[in-house]
Amino acid sequence: MRNKASITGVFMLLYISSCVAPNTSAAITTTATTFETTLAIMENQCLNGGTCLNSTLGTCSRCGCILGYGGSTCATLLVRIDGTLSFNDLFNVSTIVVNTTALQRLLNDDLNTTVILTSPVVNGNLTTISYTTYANPNSSWVTPNYVNDLVAGLRLKYATPAVIHAVFGPSSRHALNTFIIDVDECKSGLNNCNSLSTCVNLSPGFRCKCFTGYVGDGMTCTAITCKQSAAPIKPSLATKTVYYPNNTVMLNPSEIVGYQTVIRYTCSKRYSLHPVSGGTSALIIACGSFPKYKNTNWSGVEVTCNMDLAFRVAIIAAAVSGLIIVLMLGCFITQWCLKRERKARGNSNNDEEVLQFENHVFDD
Ligand SMILES: *[C@@H]1O[C@H](CO)[C@@H](O)[C@H](O)[C@H]1NC(C)=O
Ligand SMILES: *[C@@H]1O[C@H](CO)[C@@H](O)[C@H](O)[C@H]1NC(C)=O
Ligand SMILES: *[C@@H]1O[C@H](CO)[C@@H](O)[C@H](O)[C@H]1NC(C)=O
Ligand SMILES: *[C@@H]1O[C@H](CO)[C@@H](O)[C@H](O)[C@H]1NC(C)=O
Ligand SMILES: *[C@@H]1O[C@H](CO)[C@@H](O)[C@H](O)[C@H]1NC(C)=O
Ligand SMILES: *[C@@H]1O[C@H](CO)[C@@H](O)[C@H](O)[C@H]1NC(C)=O
Ligand SMILES: *[C@@H]1O[C@H](CO)[C@@H](O)[C@H](O)[C@H]1NC(C)=O
Ligand SMILES: *[C@@H]1O[C@H](CO)[C@@H](O)[C@H](O)[C@H]1NC(C)=O
Repeated sequence: MRNKASITGVFMLLYISSCVAPNTSAAITTTATTFETTLAIMENQCLNGGTCLNSTLGTCSRCGCILGYGGSTCATLLVRIDGTLSFNDLFNVSTIVVNTTALQRLLNDDLNTTVILTSPVVNGNLTTISYTTYANPNSSWVTPNYVNDLVAGLRLKYATPAVIHAVFGPSSRHALNTFIIDVDECKSGLNNCNSLSTCVNLSPGFRCKCFTGYVGDGMTCTAITCKQSAAPIKPSLATKTVYYPNNTVMLNPSEIVGYQTVIRYTCSKRYSLHPVSGGTSALIIACGSFPKYKNTNWSGVEVTCNMDLAFRVAIIAAAVSGLIIVLMLGCFITQWCLKRERKARGNSNNDEEVLQFENHVFDD
């Protein structure tokens, strides 16, 4: 499409420049060029793959556009409208024959453009036919209000015995059927969803759903953020590392961090998380569990780093053996001391006796 448009532009330029070309000796050449160029412009009158349906002397008076384009030269990109028509059968008819030709004729008349119908899908008593149609974006009726009016109008118009008979055949028993008509606002672009949201078609209407990582009503979507101060408190005996969603470490993380930012609390060696089971030594919490964790937006709960059982046993064992050693040492020292004392006491008694004896000697 773009190619053809630019080619036309070039021809146009040639045409214009040849028009303003001065009447010089090269005028004959210029005239020839002008004629060829004019022909070329006529040949390219139908744009966007359209074909000329009525060409008289190089002038195309009617263009046949490919689906989705309109206007006299097929320059207008039409708005696509997808819809469904549902026939709710009041009888239990497992095979319904729908005359789609008749239905198409009706829709063509009402939508004023080519209508493509899919084959009817029968599900219980409900027969659904999907259709696609195109509308000129500048026509007054391509507005959500018009669509509602159209739906209401079609429903009124189609829920008549005449229409039912035209679609299901004159001997059909479906005269009491009702029509449900929905326009797919999402496929048709007849919605005002934010560029940060996806459009979800409803019958009737539509809903805008913010992308993952965003919250809002769809018309406005804001990125989910998390405050670091609102995260579960870092356990003592743990280190904290903040990661980008791509797993690289965030240096100097700010208070407010983005969706899927990860905080990792790693307990010191030989310490594990409590109450997290399985001897895990690191708590990993991510930003963006909104709205489940509305108050923090962080996943995870407060934990502590508890000493590992094996380490505790080892410490107790070490303490016990240490105690035993101390006791034994104490015992040994005590015995040694006692022995030494006893020995010392024995020696001093002898001395006393000697002295006493000596005293006696002197006394006498
Ligand atoms: C083709 O164009 C000519 C002149 O514009 C017109 O007289 C004629 O009716 C057109 N034919 C069709 C089939 O549209
Ligand atoms: C409808 O008809 C089919 C076949 O005739 C039968 O199998 C089915 O049970 C019927 N359903 C009801 C709701 O009557
Ligand atoms: C379907 O409808 C069209 C247009 O009303 C009609 O010409 C055609 O005969 C119908 N086909 C059948 C099988 O009834
Ligand atoms: C339907 O098409 C005709 C002829 O192309 C045009 O005059 C008319 O305004 C259209 N109606 C609507 C509702 O677009
Ligand atoms: C079809 O319509 C009949 C009559 O109203 C009803 O009894 C039956 O439950 C309907 N079947 C289904 C599948 O809706
Ligand atoms: C449609 O309307 C817009 C502005 O509302 C205008 O810029 C554009 O040229 C119009 N297109 C056609 C094909 O009329
Ligand atoms: C949770 O995320 C929302 C949406 O981005 C934000 O407005 C709110 O401040 C966040 N709450 C916390 C505690 O980070
Ligand atoms: C990870 O993401 C951060 C922030 O978007 C970016 O600065 C960094 O270069 C990324 N690292 C890799 C390995 O992609």
